[in-house]
Amino acid sequence: MKIYRANIIHTPTPGKFEIIPHGYIVVKSNGLIEGIYTELPENMDWRRQVMDFGDKILIPAFNDLHVHAPQYRNMGLALDLELLPWLNTYTFPEETKYADPEYARRMYRRFVHELWMQGTMRSAVFGTIHPESTRILADLFIQAGMGAMVGIVGMNRNSPETLQNTTAELIEGMRMLKAHLDEHGEGLVQPIITPRFVPSCSDKMLRALGEYAAETGMPVQSHLSENRSEISWVKELEPDTTCYGGAYDKYGLFGQTPTLMAHCCYTDGEELELMRKNSVYVVHCPMSNSNLSSGMAPIRKFLNAGINVALGTDVSAGHHMSMLRVMQYAIQVSKLNYAQTKGEMSFLSLSEVFYLATKGGGSFFGKVGSFEPSYEFDALLVDDRYLNYDNYTLEQRLERYIYLGDDRDIKRRFCRGVELTEPCL
Ligand code: GUN
Ligand code: FE
Repeated sequence: MKIYRANIIHTPTPGKFEIIPHGYIVVKSNGLIEGIYTELPENMDWRRQVMDFGDKILIPAFNDLHVHAPQYRNMGLALDLELLPWLNTYTFPEETKYADPEYARRMYRRFVHELWMQGTMRSAVFGTIHPESTRILADLFIQAGMGAMVGIVGMNRNSPETLQNTTAELIEGMRMLKAHLDEHGEGLVQPIITPRFVPSCSDKMLRALGEYAAETGMPVQSHLSENRSEISWVKELEPDTTCYGGAYDKYGLFGQTPTLMAHCCYTDGEELELMRKNSVYVVHCPMSNSNLSSGMAPIRKFLNAGINVALGTDVSAGHHMSMLRVMQYAIQVSKLNYAQTKGEMSFLSLSEVFYLATKGGGSFFGKVGSFEPSYEFDALLVDDRYLNYDNYTLEQRLERYIYLGDDRDIKRRFCRGVELTEPCL
């Protein structure tokens, strides 16, 4: 059992912050939260164990539900094209390098270290087509003690010869990865089925992945309705489906097992209804959508429809690993959407985007992203002393940290109850 005392802030519901000034959080030895207390019960045994963090702020750790590990080297580069030429010109050539496991190890160490640095304790990650490099990535997460869902990417059409796998290679790779993670992942690092997107995957590949999902119950991640040219291309490639999402659904890759779909900038009508019905998650990547001029996802509409929404950096179409930045972009893009729709779609509040970055995304991993009883204790201790030079309220302090803070303000990081000091990767 561990007991921490700090200014505790979390969002059990999106509408408002729950704030416990100088509260206590009791964490059981299995890493699950026992409860939050304003006063500790008269239990001397408990009182002796308190670790007092003074005036610092304790929040749930961040969850990045869409990120490409092999694009790490390109982060902050090459944002002068739209999606399809961007993939061909910059992204596919970089991912091709991951045929070399030594290159993969060198880059992936930096990538996992940076997630740790930025306070992202859980992530849903695209690897490449290369099984060995992707296993190296998964092993780095295990070593770091951080949660992740990691996928070997399926691609067998419309991409360079050197960056394609066959359906058989992909399924074989996923079986090996699953066996490895069943043995070593402790439920914290898990495999996820990862067709890149419809233009990259033949019907045969999608069908095989859908069957593999049905067989194993494994979750799925992909891209959906990100960009107008991509959507018209999918219409040509899959003429007998009535919407882009329908192409995944046809093969059992659209909520038949837990599913993440990044972007959804143009999702509406039938596609939106199918996502709602099948409980498919929208992963909103507003930094990426701005950089690639993709569009503004109608997040308010998704929330009103009761669709699950999470946030993602989408590095390297997103240019930064910080979920703080993604939260800023999410609010700003929602305000542009508000202006564009003449106020029809109200913009997102601070507590709503904080919820999306913590509990919204965390729910894909189970009871993660909140400090409610029986949730896994994933947390960040924030020292905002240089931002807090006047009589700011705790809510204002959190707001300033979200807009003005960075990784240097994070003093401690916890994942599933375990403090993760600098991962020696
Ligand atoms: N669609 C297919 N592949 C990608 C990718 O790597 N990044 C983004 N943003 N969209 C994609
Ligand atoms: Fe992406």
